[in-house]
Amino acid sequence: MDSLSPETLLEALRTEWCGRDIHYFPAVDSTNETARELADNGAGEGAVVITENQLRGRGRRGRQWFSLPGEGVCFSLIHRPELPPARVPGITLLAAVAVGRAIEDQTGLRPGLKWPNDILLTGRKVCGILTETSSDRDGKNYLVLGIGVNVRGDNFPPELRGQAASLEMAGAEGIDRSRLIAGILGRLEELYRVFKTSGDLSPVIELYRSRSVTIGRRVRMTGGGKEISGLALGLTVGGGLRIRQDNGEETVAASGEVSLREEGKKK
Ligand code: BTN
Repeated sequence: MDSLSPETLLEALRTEWCGRDIHYFPAVDSTNETARELADNGAGEGAVVITENQLRGRGRRGRQWFSLPGEGVCFSLIHRPELPPARVPGITLLAAVAVGRAIEDQTGLRPGLKWPNDILLTGRKVCGILTETSSDRDGKNYLVLGIGVNVRGDNFPPELRGQAASLEMAGAEGIDRSRLIAGILGRLEELYRVFKTSGDLSPVIELYRSRSVTIGRRVRMTGGGKEISGLALGLTVGGGLRIRQDNGEETVAASGEVSLREEGKKK
């Protein structure tokens, strides 16, 4: 089995700050939870928590994240961006682009991005990202970016079959998980540099757009107790999804759950 040890990861890592402080645990409940504990106690920019066996992985919207030891990648990055909370959704999109590019670098497969941050191959989810914000004991804001990639295997629970896939199921071969993590961290650092240099998210949004499987599709959006259906028109500069509703009204969703509707079905 490929190793996730800090030594192996450090060997593959080409970054300056992203992932240089590695906290490896053979098993944890949730790397996001552990990262929050570390960040609360002062862990710095770019620290990562990695595990081989995540026992209670958390997904978006209170769901669970399923993974088996040896088959996936589960890690969380502590990020301390100097950004107002309204800009945080943009970082989530940035992370989705970074993961999409890293998967392409390693496998030659080109994943699609389902807004805001699901990564798909063959129409199924191969990676999810959970961004959580908080502040530490000194009152400093931080963000935990939790990334879960299904790398190998096809042993998903019944409720995920047909929706989830691994990179191997999508045709990738011989993936080394440490190299994949190093690749994701490298792309994250690179995109974050672009973001900081340009001062806005537009270059990242452009990259996101080119990989989006949501824009131009009919969608149903749920969140905040509301449900709307319409056509996904595009993204705002902050990363919100612009939707033209079936009643003609245009709206911008800052967060929510999107399902892609079948073309031609106007329900
Ligand atoms: C989603 O619902 O799509 C988000 C899934 C995020 C899963 C990752 S795995 C590593 C990190 N730790 C967690 O508990 N969740 C995230």
